[in-house]
Amino acid sequence: MTDSQKIEGYERAVRQIAGLLPHCRDSVAVMATVASVLHDAMPHYYWTGFYRTVSPDILSIGPYQGTPACLEIAFDKGVCGHCATTRTTVVADDVHEFPGHIACDSRSRSEIVVPVFDSGGVLVAVLDVDSTELAAFDEIDKRYLEDICGQMSEFMQG
Ligand code: SME
Repeated sequence: MTDSQKIEGYERAVRQIAGLLPHCRDSVAVMATVASVLHDAMPHYYWTGFYRTVSPDILSIGPYQGTPACLEIAFDKGVCGHCATTRTTVVADDVHEFPGHIACDSRSRSEIVVPVFDSGGVLVAVLDVDSTELAAFDEIDKRYLEDICGQMSEFMQG
């Protein structure tokens, strides 16, 4: 996939998400919509979904597209936990090299995880995307996914 094909896919997804989010009744509808639009738009995605902050140190599975995944992740575990702890985007070019990586599906080889905050700046979820290719995620993915997670903030209630 070329950079311009990737950008084109993200531009389409951003427009579609911007049109749909104002119609979402609650945060489940927001996360389900974003996971669906992104998974459908981006051919290099294998698993696309959210883990929600359900207690100060536990993430629990939220809406997703792809194969069945781990149900709970502690903040001190895996790529998702690292993102939740640091509240910043984490890119793992080779998940098997990432300390504490949780292998929900052995086909996943690289991963990007982006924090999702509500409008008050509280971490409410992380967006996790996996690929079967090594180093599938770069600055373009980071920029667009951070933008999309930023757009979600004002709709993440209830
Ligand atoms: N690999 C993740 C766990 C979630 S799955 O990829 C869906 C991690 O290490 O946090």
